[in-house]
Amino acid sequence: METVAIHKDVAEILVSSEQIEERCKQLGKEISDYYRNKDAQLVVVGLLKGSVPFMADLIKHIDVDLEIDFMDVSSYVGTDSTEVKILKDVENPVTGKEVLIVEDIVDTGKTLQEVVGLFQSKGAKDVRIATLLSKPEGRIIDIKIDYIGFSVPNKFVIGYGLDYNQKYRNLPYVGVIKKEAI
Ligand code: IMP
Repeated sequence: METVAIHKDVAEILVSSEQIEERCKQLGKEISDYYRNKDAQLVVVGLLKGSVPFMADLIKHIDVDLEIDFMDVSSYVGTDSTEVKILKDVENPVTGKEVLIVEDIVDTGKTLQEVVGLFQSKGAKDVRIATLLSKPEGRIIDIKIDYIGFSVPNKFVIGYGLDYNQKYRNLPYVGVIKKEAI
């Protein structure tokens, strides 16, 4: 195993780059098997910016024809619901297509619930979700997640796309941020 110098702001590594690489291969195979004989076009939609490393690694292991697209949303919690504002919408129509949303982490599930609804209202044939990480203890909405890389405890994690104040997205592993760094 290659030794990675641990960032000074990381308390512990939860998922190593080797584990991520291996899981991307497994998920890529599962996803390919599911979409292989579908009639409709598959479009893999990454939610910016956190999904970028996972999306890039995952699609290399999907061996069916696909389009890629990106969406950027910001979510804030209102009085009775979570409002999702679209900062960047997908470029191409998704009507009649198989949509696979790629996310970095699912915590409460509120953001994804809204995003799934958006794709359904745009006329997607089906909408599935792949997330690198899931924090089951944080879940408020019982959303169905089709592909989960790893389940992690209810701690603030950084790296491999995940940020704290826009930093640490470039770390090749997922780690817990030190309290002093927050
Ligand atoms: P949800 O709507 O609560 O599921 O929010 C998911 C979003 O919150 C993710 O896309 C991340 O942007 C952010 N998030 C949740 N937990 C973490 C974390 O531990 N580290 C970094 N971002 C997180």
